[in-house]
Amino acid sequence: MSIADRGTEAMMSNYPPRPLTIVRGEGCWLWDDAGTRYLDLVAGIAVVTLGHGHPEPIAALAAQSAVLDHVSNLYWTEPAIALAERLHGLSGFEQAFFCNSGAEANEAAIKLARRHGTETGGADKHELVCLEGAFHGRTLGALQATWAQPKKIPFEPLPAGFRHVSRNDIEALRAAVGPQTAGVLIEPIQGEGGVHVIDEAFLQEARTLCDQHNALLLFDEVQTGIGRTGAWFAFQRTGVRPDAVVLAKGLASGMPIGALLSKRLATGFQPGDHGTTFGGSPPIAAAALATIGVVERDDLIGNATRIGDYLATALGALAGVADVRGAGLLIAVELASGDAAGAAAALREQGVIVNAVSETALRLCPPLVITQEQAELAVAALDVVLAARG
Ligand SMILES: Cc1ncc(COP(=O)(O)O)c(C=O)c1O
Repeated sequence: MSIADRGTEAMMSNYPPRPLTIVRGEGCWLWDDAGTRYLDLVAGIAVVTLGHGHPEPIAALAAQSAVLDHVSNLYWTEPAIALAERLHGLSGFEQAFFCNSGAEANEAAIKLARRHGTETGGADKHELVCLEGAFHGRTLGALQATWAQPKKIPFEPLPAGFRHVSRNDIEALRAAVGPQTAGVLIEPIQGEGGVHVIDEAFLQEARTLCDQHNALLLFDEVQTGIGRTGAWFAFQRTGVRPDAVVLAKGLASGMPIGALLSKRLATGFQPGDHGTTFGGSPPIAAAALATIGVVERDDLIGNATRIGDYLATALGALAGVADVRGAGLLIAVELASGDAAGAAAALREQGVIVNAVSETALRLCPPLVITQEQAELAVAALDVVLAARG
């Protein structure tokens, strides 16, 4: 029985069919179970910041595990505190909560906004304003904050108190935010929704409205955080500073982690308000610290900018590409012919892995260690694919 057949038998069928069985990874390369090599421009969906199998987070994880593995949040452990301090230094925030995934970090952000809202404005101040096209995760609160309406129907009723407005529609935002608003939750660049950059004027208006109504401005940087867009955090590319930021994917280069960073709030979480068994586990915190260290030392943020700029220009010049969106190494390539899934399958045949982020667009979010040579290979492969597909 193949691994794929065993998976089909043994695993729940919550994921669409998987085109490959991957058995090994190194840097930006992956190998399938037939020994075929692929250039990986998915990076575990913007997760393996340092590429596959980078020795430094692995060594940090192993060394920390040997000293102290897991004791829970009943006790202090130093690595999580060091990680919080490191992230505050990079972001300017002051307090951290660690968990295990992006959805879980968004749940924490939603609860923080409601805690602040109801404490300062009473029980009615609990609404979250979110954007059409948003993706915040699959747990019930994060799913309700997400836009994809059909994905919600089988799981209703979902939590009440969420509104959605069109991205970049300032008038709609003004109409939605009021005294009842606890928080406004925005991805500064919508990832799963198709890599749409939110206008700075819209973000600025969200800031102004949150200040006016004493609501928290929450940025979901699960996909954009830790250097991917050419800054440690995408908000640093704008003139807008949120009250809290949500992180996950790239933070520990492949180890599961989520984080909520916020300014110091008198109305923040109180003991017993929130928690999770594995959050801030010493080995994972050590891996995250090592990841951040490599991103800084090897100037991977500069690399994300340089290679991202090259890719945007080179891909935009290909026949068959209608538009290129994004920032740094979070890029959507809008195909003139549509059929992004078909193009992704054809690229796979060329030895390059990307995913179709919408019916008409491919997403490229490679490891931040991608080289110029690898980027050129990706462009050449897409050129071949688009030429063959007319
Ligand atoms: C912006 C954003 N928020 C939240 C999530 C959910 O993260 P996770 O899958 O780790 O729960 C994702 C995942 O793609 C994401 O892109």
